[in-house]
Amino acid sequence: MNSRPESAVAPVITIDGPSGSGKGTLSRLLARRLGWHWLDSGALYRLLALAATQDNIALEDVAALVDKAHQLDIRFEESADGEPQIYLSGQRVTDALRTEQCGKVASKVAAIPAVRAALLDRQRAFRQLPGLVADGRDMGTVVFPDADLKIFLDASIEERANRRQKQLKKQGLDISMGDLFQEISARDQRDMNRAVSPLRPAEDAKHIDCSAMTIDEMLETALGFVREKGWVAAG
Ligand code: C5P
Repeated sequence: MNSRPESAVAPVITIDGPSGSGKGTLSRLLARRLGWHWLDSGALYRLLALAATQDNIALEDVAALVDKAHQLDIRFEESADGEPQIYLSGQRVTDALRTEQCGKVASKVAAIPAVRAALLDRQRAFRQLPGLVADGRDMGTVVFPDADLKIFLDASIEERANRRQKQLKKQGLDISMGDLFQEISARDQRDMNRAVSPLRPAEDAKHIDCSAMTIDEMLETALGFVREKGWVAAG
């Protein structure tokens, strides 16, 4: 791969884990605390899923999906209140990306090896100074195997379904615990059992089980590892 000289030296923290474990929240807070870039790699798979759905591309049409992955016109921004906003071909699609349906299609396109290969360089291009915090399923194992710090963030499926239900309620959506539980475990199974880049902790990953942690406690635990690297002042 042809990377720019500075990207070779930019440090990377990877945060992998199953759906709903809090990777997005943790990685965003860490990136903000460090003043580093942030990659929400799941958003790339979700963007491809959304674009494929809009263009009526069948999930069996691998060539068309790969073409689409190369052509995706995407932009990540932060709104004035600090919330991430995502654009596809100039349209804001932040809410459309977060639906259960989009997540489901994303995990199906993500199981296709050629699609993963097509999105690899796009993900690596986020590695820029002063550093990158990247969250996903294979950040520490495949995309950034030489990352300086790898975290595997997990939580029980009950707790993940519970958090997701609260999040959906805030958006005015009432989905039963049973349905959410089923949807999340189906996604876990697809993500863990696929042939390429299955969800699994990197051998050198630090594990955090945040089932019983508040967001502050989760951040503090991660910051403990970050301090060991000397990237943030103690305290
Ligand atoms: O993290 P998020 O739920 O947004 O990801 C959506 C889907 O994209 C996941 O269920 C997973 O199948 C896929 N994904 C992946 N590899 C990543 C990030 C996400 O396969 N690095």
